[in-house]
Amino acid sequence: MKILGTGSALPKKVVTNDDLAQVMDTSDEWIKSRTGIEKRHIAVEETTTSMAVEAAKKAIEAAKISVLDIDLIICATVSSDYIFPTLACEVQAAVGAKRATAFDIGAGCSGFLFALATADAYFRTGRFHKALIMGAETLSKMMDWGDRSTCVLFGDGAGAAVVSAEENQLLSMVQGSDGESGMALKCDNRPVNNLYRQLGAQTYSYTEMNGSEVYKFAVRTVPTAISEALEQAKVPADDVKLYLLHQANRRIIEAVAKRLGQSLDKFPMNLQECGNISAASVPILLDKVCKDGMLQAGDKVVLAGFGAGLTWGACVLEW
Ligand code: ACO
Repeated sequence: MKILGTGSALPKKVVTNDDLAQVMDTSDEWIKSRTGIEKRHIAVEETTTSMAVEAAKKAIEAAKISVLDIDLIICATVSSDYIFPTLACEVQAAVGAKRATAFDIGAGCSGFLFALATADAYFRTGRFHKALIMGAETLSKMMDWGDRSTCVLFGDGAGAAVVSAEENQLLSMVQGSDGESGMALKCDNRPVNNLYRQLGAQTYSYTEMNGSEVYKFAVRTVPTAISEALEQAKVPADDVKLYLLHQANRRIIEAVAKRLGQSLDKFPMNLQECGNISAASVPILLDKVCKDGMLQAGDKVVLAGFGAGLTWGACVLEW
């Protein structure tokens, strides 16, 4: 599996911590000191589909392939515009990838890693050769904007990559799930409400999080998953050029760097500009480091995601 091209899309509207402090009881100092987040992009005119399509078109252009070569589309999302059709099918229609099999996966903030692992597994059947994999989220619509402990953390956006079965860049992949701890981070779907069980008028459900549980999970699980991925790939931590982690919180990333004995300089971040964009955060960051020319042929790169489920994934790539 080799990444041929990447792309990303962010909403036009930028909301700073100071902007939020004008409409709720929070401050730039509180948000920045606890998370590193300074601003985030919030969808106004954009939708999950429109951002996913923009990111997909850029990734296809960067990959320099015909859209008809794509035989697989996997979108990782928890905030698609429709329960059905899937986001992946909407993207397929918009980009004209008529030959592709398209479906979504839900793995919270690990979604892009799970999409990558799924594409790799499909490639190994020999029946699929080029995939468009994506993370796309409009988390702002999943927030209770009256709950300052969650709404300040998240942002909206989409990231995409075109991957090919032709060469092997993926040296290892580690994934895991802990459903027993899943309620630490949740958003209810529709309740059973039908002719035989009538609940009356329903309101939407929003994201609920036990922040300290999620924090402890992340700092415990992510270094272990990365260490396992490095061991499988037989790559020493010191030989890795960049560690691209899910952008939830600067303190989590600092703790992971410390546990791995690595300089924080190897952990590029965009959470200060974007907040936490769940499944989209890793591919958006990957697109940024590619555009900034930070990766050369032969470089070893670690990608790691962690989040709702609870789920986690880590892989080592040789660029
Ligand atoms: N502004 C001001 N004060 C706030 C805000 C806010 N936005 N939110 C909460 N507070 C208050 C609380 O009410 C509390 O006040 P109290 O002591 O009077 O009750 C106080 O700040 C401390 O709250 P804590 O929850 O203890 O703050 P903590 O230092 O733990 O930081 C945080 C909270 C940032 C969420 C932290 O727990 C964390 O980093 N968790 C990791 C979870 C995470 O990053 N989740 C992202 C999604 S999951 C994922 O992507 C993997």
